[in-house]
Amino acid sequence: MNPALPLKTLLASTFLAGAVACSPAADEEPYRAVADVQELMFHVVEPAAQTYWGAVGWILDEEGEHYLRPESEEEWIAVENAAFMVAESGNLLMMAERALDDDAWITMSRSLVDVGERALRAAEEMDEQGVFDLGAEMYQVCSNCHARYSPEILRPSDERSVDEAATADGPMGRATGHGQTGAGGQAGRDAGAGTGGP
Ligand code: HEC
Repeated sequence: MNPALPLKTLLASTFLAGAVACSPAADEEPYRAVADVQELMFHVVEPAAQTYWGAVGWILDEEGEHYLRPESEEEWIAVENAAFMVAESGNLLMMAERALDDDAWITMSRSLVDVGERALRAAEEMDEQGVFDLGAEMYQVCSNCHARYSPEILRPSDERSVDEAATADGPMGRATGHGQTGAGGQAGRDAGAGTGGP
């Protein structure tokens, strides 16, 4: 008697059972969204973007203008972390549970992956000007998607914003609130992002 035979038979039947058990669920994805789009924005994308935007640039406080840049290895790693989060969030936005359509939404989410990845490279190279410039590009990707899918959260200075943006209780009030919860430098950079630069 060949002792290997029962094992082979067992493997074959396990494989078949597995194939049968899997086939009805074949079109179901194993992942499961925990955050909806708004929560992903509020808890992941926005804090990461704020960290990135706050990393390099000029801030104005009572003592005058200061140039901000990451000062240590850890601070540069924090900028990389932020860029990774922004880039990977683009992938999370493409998940079927979050995608609002399978056309422009996907294109814009891909743009977030792309700009996030380039933002990451600039941080890895400790390229201060690159981080500043990619922060501006990143801001454009954010606001392009908001212009299309959530115009009420655009800054009032954005010509594509809608009137509800002026109401304090609207999403715009909350969105600007997030900016101001960061360090002074981040809020300053953020304010600059809304008017002059990005
Ligand atoms: C693919 C489209 C898309 C991209 C790209 C995108 N967003 Fe959003 N964002 C949305 C939508 C849609 C909403 C409105 C969600 C809702 O209220 O249901 C939103 C809402 C927000 C809000 C408001 C959240 C709240 O609490 O109401 C913030 C802040 C925000 N986004 C930040 C960002 C930042 C920062 C970026 C870029 C780094 C970005 N978003 C990129 C689609 C996008």
